[in-house]
Amino acid sequence: MEFADAVHARHSYRGFLPKAVDKNTLKGVFELANWAPSNCNVQPWHVHVASGEACNRLREKMKAAAVENPNGNSDFPWQGKFTGPYRERQICSALGLWEYQGVTREDREKRAWSWMRNFEFFDAPHVAFIFVTDEFPETIRLAADVGMYAQTLMLSLANAGIGSCPQTSISCFPDLVREELGIESQFKLLMGLSFGYIDQSNAANNFRTERAALEDTTVFHS
Ligand SMILES: Cc1cc2nc3c(=O)[nH]c(=O)nc-3n(C[C@H](O)[C@H](O)[C@H](O)COP(=O)(O)O)c2cc1C
Repeated sequence: MEFADAVHARHSYRGFLPKAVDKNTLKGVFELANWAPSNCNVQPWHVHVASGEACNRLREKMKAAAVENPNGNSDFPWQGKFTGPYRERQICSALGLWEYQGVTREDREKRAWSWMRNFEFFDAPHVAFIFVTDEFPETIRLAADVGMYAQTLMLSLANAGIGSCPQTSISCFPDLVREELGIESQFKLLMGLSFGYIDQSNAANNFRTERAALEDTTVFHS
């Protein structure tokens, strides 16, 4: 795949087929993602990929946890509250997705269903969790590294014909993930990613976001 095609093939997909990605393909995709750059090449990401029964167990437990406590208990603060143009973009993306999911703003029940789809991993047969350790004092710098890794991973998946959805939401239940996957407490969960082959019949996958104009985000100086 050409680079620009891979960039444009990546969207957040929210409906997956049950078909698993074979182990060799998975290994190749994650090997490529490891070439992401990081501050001083420290490569602070610790990635756990759950497939098959491990993925299903996590899905069931996370769904139950989200019903009990919808806000969870994240390792890192997360409010999801934005203002000004950021709020406008947030609303635009939420309303757009809901439209494709058949959810209206007034329908609290369907909105809750839309949120719960996160914890179902959008039916994906695989989920990846990206941890960092608590020995780094500057989480914001660390998050830049993890962002580099996550985008490289999503492009690597797109290049292999695999869809993904990055998710802060599924980092809301870190204790559950640590317990289920046998991960020690110094590893802190920053984000997750559901992935698999795209279910083309799921209308949510037809939703496309827009981007701000270049002049709104980027200034060229000379
Ligand atoms: C760090 C990060 C966390 C995200 N968390 C969620 C999430 O919890 N649930 C979700 O449905 N989408 C989530 N998204 C997807 C964004 O909504 C999406 O990237 C954005 O609307 C742009 O759309 P696109 O990915 O289709 O280009 C997240 C994206 C990023 C980069």
